Amino acid sequence: MSSTNEIRRSFLDYFGKAGHAVTPSAPLVPYNDPTLMFVNAGMVPFKNVFTGLETPPAPRAASSQKCVRAGGKHNDLDNVGYTARHHTFFEMLGNFSFGDYFKEQAIEHAWTLLTREWGLPKDKLTVTVYHTDDEAHSLWQRIAGLPDERIIRISTNDNFWSMGDTGPCGPCSEIFFDHGEHIFGGPPGSPDEDGDRFVEIWNLVFMQYEQQADGTRRDLPKPSIDTGMGIERIAAVLQGVHDNYDTDTFKALIAASEHLTNVPAAGEQAASHRVIADHLRSTSFLMADGVLPSNEGRGYVLRRIMRRAMRHAHLLGASEPLMHRLVPALVSEMGQAYPELVRGQALIEEVLEREETQFRRTLDKGLKLLDEATGDMASGGELDGEIAFRLYDTYGFPYDLTEDALRARGIGVDKAGFDEAMARQKAAARAAWKGSGEAASGEVWFDIAEREGATEFTGYSSTSGEGRVVAIVKDGAEVDRAAAGDQVVVLTNQTPFYGESGGQTGDSGTMASPSGFKAHVTDTAKPLGRLHAHHVRIEAGEVAVGDNVQLAVDTGRRDRIRANHSATHLVHAALRNRLGGHVTQKGSMVAEDRLRFDFSHPVALTPEDIAAIEAEVNAEIRANEAVSTRLMTPDDAVAAGALALFGEKYGDEVRVLSMGRASKEGRNYSVELCGGTHVRATGDIGVFRIVSESAVSSGVRRIEALTGEAARQWLVAREEALKAAAGVIRATPEEVPARLSALMEERKRLEKELAEAKKALALGGGGAGGASASADEQVAGVTFSGQVLEGLDPKELRPLLDAAKQRLGSGIAAIIAVNDGKASIAAAVTDDLTARFSAVDLVRAGVAALGGKGGGGRPDMAQGGGPDGDKAADAIAAVKQALEAQPAA
Ligand code: ALA
Repeated sequence: MSSTNEIRRSFLDYFGKAGHAVTPSAPLVPYNDPTLMFVNAGMVPFKNVFTGLETPPAPRAASSQKCVRAGGKHNDLDNVGYTARHHTFFEMLGNFSFGDYFKEQAIEHAWTLLTREWGLPKDKLTVTVYHTDDEAHSLWQRIAGLPDERIIRISTNDNFWSMGDTGPCGPCSEIFFDHGEHIFGGPPGSPDEDGDRFVEIWNLVFMQYEQQADGTRRDLPKPSIDTGMGIERIAAVLQGVHDNYDTDTFKALIAASEHLTNVPAAGEQAASHRVIADHLRSTSFLMADGVLPSNEGRGYVLRRIMRRAMRHAHLLGASEPLMHRLVPALVSEMGQAYPELVRGQALIEEVLEREETQFRRTLDKGLKLLDEATGDMASGGELDGEIAFRLYDTYGFPYDLTEDALRARGIGVDKAGFDEAMARQKAAARAAWKGSGEAASGEVWFDIAEREGATEFTGYSSTSGEGRVVAIVKDGAEVDRAAAGDQVVVLTNQTPFYGESGGQTGDSGTMASPSGFKAHVTDTAKPLGRLHAHHVRIEAGEVAVGDNVQLAVDTGRRDRIRANHSATHLVHAALRNRLGGHVTQKGSMVAEDRLRFDFSHPVALTPEDIAAIEAEVNAEIRANEAVSTRLMTPDDAVAAGALALFGEKYGDEVRVLSMGRASKEGRNYSVELCGGTHVRATGDIGVFRIVSESAVSSGVRRIEALTGEAARQWLVAREEALKAAAGVIRATPEEVPARLSALMEERKRLEKELAEAKKALALGGGGAGGASASADEQVAGVTFSGQVLEGLDPKELRPLLDAAKQRLGSGIAAIIAVNDGKASIAAAVTDDLTARFSAVDLVRAGVAALGGKGGGGRPDMAQGGGPDGDKAADAIAAVKQALEAQPAA
């Protein structure tokens, strides 16, 4: 018997030896294909290779691809648990030829591997071909020697495979294994074909066309091969069982759930164990690839699958959450082939436990309501759609869970009634919103959001990908298309572009399509908090609603934004550590070139505070711990110590960002609720530098800071300035402080000396030098001395005038000190002359000439000043005039 792991290995080895490049499974989320929710076949990662858009990695390839079929064209959710061969998650083994070999070698390889390598008896195999494919029919005759009755022609779509509504497609040929007469079922094409006896094990698709959105098909550049073999089915065949759930992997998972619930997988309970085992795989693999439960898009499909499993756990009587306790069994079965499962194990267990705990709170009440509503119903009855909606809306029962719950009793659900109730609720929400006053500016966004749902943001894990255009808005109204030169807003079903929110600026980048459309995304906004609105300037070509476009974020810019955003979390924590728990965030702005963080604190930060905060943040940066994100309910997040913004509205789930080193108790340096994009490890921030600290309003301070290259450039500019300063004083930068203070001392000393010299000059009476001096002269019959002294300290006026009076014995002196263009004037009259002249009158005359007003003192000494220092000479003349105007003695 071969284990599933051995079968996978053997398949890949076979095709590797036959010249195929063995490629690892792509993630389950096809960010590069907006038409698909999940990868649903092995060929999906190669879609663009088949259509000629991308060059092949090699002419032939082989893989074991993770697939989920739970939503969209290929949806197996409803069948899981009730058939032997349906799964929401499975692995598809496949070999691919990209224009290399075609039908003949594809059939040869399949036949050789099945019958020679794996030794399957030829008489157990039956094949089908598309009814018009004579070539494949005769190849099967020749290569496999199968009789005509075991090469069945099928005319339905069963033998024409397509990936989705668009994409590569072609006729196919399927290989069936006959599990034997003891099992119910008929050969393909017969009325009983859906039974479990004849099971399709391998599908060989002869890829020849590409299905276009307009319904037409075009030829692929080269005929190619895509094959797919569900590993679970071939494992059943090779392990001699007819039921996939009896293969090694499933037996191990079911044994674990039997063990934990103490309920054997028999009778009615068997289906529940199967559902649990299957859904454990799909939910765990989806989470390992980055999908987390939510109320929309992929996250909601995940939640639906989880809740369906959780109801079955409840059916088995599990009194505690069960799913997370099964994860170790899954990891031990599949972790070696898929290491992402090992890496994600802790997160998967945590999310499963939380989701199950949460769902169990309403599950009982919902089931009771369901019982009451259907208690007296017989098989064939139908549950009222209103009640199905109430179960959905109030008790968190996804629609298909309700269907599944009634299935065993043969009761259906009124889907139309459910849809109607849902539509009514949406209309009510719209009416409430219209009444809220936001309508005028945003109606177009509401229309789009209602019609298309939220934009799925793929930018936490990637910065490029494809999106389908769902709306184009020009001048506030929706249009069908836009062309070169237009400035419009383009909305896609999914995007890696972050829409401005939570203080973080929107992404910019490019949008393009193979048809020649090229646009520059200048900004991304987030109207209604749910839509990512790309503001674009179309540079070439045309874009229309329904087009698929390539979206590429400007990654350099995004990296700078990320670094700044993560730095705000670190600075928030550092501020609280340094200043106290009263510090809370009051606002923030995270842009490409800088960050701003406003917080509550009553006084300015001291230079020591700033230095300590900066040092602490940089220490966390250097510790370079990985940044982790978890999804929680807001209450759980706060209980776990996350800093939540008071008054901020959070959804059902919040992202919790943990950053920096962990304490002994395991709490990270910073734990915050945040929807923004962040660095992978704190070291990516590079360096952190606070460049300003200021007041925003009373009690709110603001820090502005730089990170990474911007911080480095800032530091370089500072250093350049220092170097320039050092050059001027002919010192090294290190010497600058000592040299500058020596220079300042020197300057003080020189100023003092200068003042002394001026004083001496004034005392000397008349003379030359810096002062405009006048010799003593006779005015109105008395000796007059008038001087203008630049730079004289006005405080020196009085002592100088006292000295002048002594020198003159009898006379009058006036001195004007001019400083910074302004003048102070003082005049003195010796006592013998005060009966004739008043110093006050003389000063007033001078002050008026200096453009000032007033002036005062006593008759022997008065002082004043004026703004017009350049009128000093006029002021001396005015004093003299005033002297002359006095009546003679
Ligand atoms: N792509 C083909 C399938 O999924 C092989 O069946």
